[in-house]
Amino acid sequence: MNIDYKALADKYGTPLYMYDFDYIENRYTTLKDAFAGKKSLINYAVKANSNLSVIAHLAKLGAGADCVSIGEVKRALTAGVDKYKIIFSGVGKRDDEIREALEQDILLLNLESEAEMKRVEMVAKELGKEARISIRVNPNIDPQTHPYISTGLHENKFGVEIDMAKRMYIYANKSEFLNPVGIHFHIGSQLTKIEPIRESCMIVADLVRSLKAIKIDIKFFDVGGGIGVVYDDEVTIPAEVYTQAIFEATKGLDVTLLCEPGRYMVANAGAFFTKVLYEKVNDGKRFVIVDGAMNDLIRPSLYNAYHKIEAVLKEGEKTPADVVGPVCESGDFFGKNVPLPPLEHNDLIVVHSAGAYGFTMASNYNTRAKAAEVALQGGKDRLIRQRETYEDQVRLELEYLEK
Ligand code: LLP
Repeated sequence: MNIDYKALADKYGTPLYMYDFDYIENRYTTLKDAFAGKKSLINYAVKANSNLSVIAHLAKLGAGADCVSIGEVKRALTAGVDKYKIIFSGVGKRDDEIREALEQDILLLNLESEAEMKRVEMVAKELGKEARISIRVNPNIDPQTHPYISTGLHENKFGVEIDMAKRMYIYANKSEFLNPVGIHFHIGSQLTKIEPIRESCMIVADLVRSLKAIKIDIKFFDVGGGIGVVYDDEVTIPAEVYTQAIFEATKGLDVTLLCEPGRYMVANAGAFFTKVLYEKVNDGKRFVIVDGAMNDLIRPSLYNAYHKIEAVLKEGEKTPADVVGPVCESGDFFGKNVPLPPLEHNDLIVVHSAGAYGFTMASNYNTRAKAAEVALQGGKDRLIRQRETYEDQVRLELEYLEK
């Protein structure tokens, strides 16, 4: 990536998110190619980065969408994702969300409990429709990742146990309003080891075989998302290793393979730009205070996640500094003890690998406006989201203001 960070920061201001669309395309094609020879669909996990232009870019390449709210489903539709390529997951779908998803006739509603299945059946009955469903199975496998983003153990809230899944399939198969065509699991995010994925695939593929034996024919085998990326020095899973593990486990099954990568597609396509406001030293400890904050990019504060931080175009002897934002929380930092050269007001800092779970997890805490977003494609840059204004933030409150 040869990017003129300074020109972009000058043109669009900071804080700013930048996404390299060529990189995203490359990631998509690499993964899609690794599925060559098999029926497959890559359902981009919209939660990682739900900017409409990002979704549209992937949709044009042929991607589907994995959504976890009706809002995300609508984003996917707005961005041009084919409705038969959209799946709707999540442990807590409201009736109105279920209704709208059924009305939109998307590919699959992915169910996470028996109670939810009954709600979906009820809503489908009201609409006089048959709901295409998949069931999220919890294979009870330790994904060996951060506990906050691990989801495939029984102690997590996600999915149902194998026995329960089987009972649900039998019920759904008999129901006039449910059509159980898919199976799904997702064991966690930022996975860097193939073994937990392989084991989960095996367990779930066995379940598919035993369902087939009782004439329940699963057509979509969805392995979830979770492929890890390099933030620091992680060794990640090559696309072919990933797909080979899936191919082996599903050998002999006539299924379309689905996966739901989010981070893999966008994390390293993105960077977050912020400018230095001040430097200060407290009792020998160096702080670099920047104009971006935890409300823009919360991963370091929330998960102690590492993001490489660089002072672009600055030379000089590096000394460790905490890079912190203006928010009134001690947890408002992008990095601790980051080696940085001497910095001045307005110097540019780039926080790397910020394309996934960056902007989508942003908030307005401290009445800070959300950053602008730009795309870089074929050597050209373009705005894909305006910087939020104060007026945008108070719009839904002003008319109720009593003075
Ligand atoms: N499918 C399901 C059912 C999921 O729950 C997730 C992510 C994905 C797919 C996409 O996972 P990915 O390929 O991006 O790993 N905010 C956290 C990550 C939370 C992931 C939640 N589920 C972070 O910043 O690390």
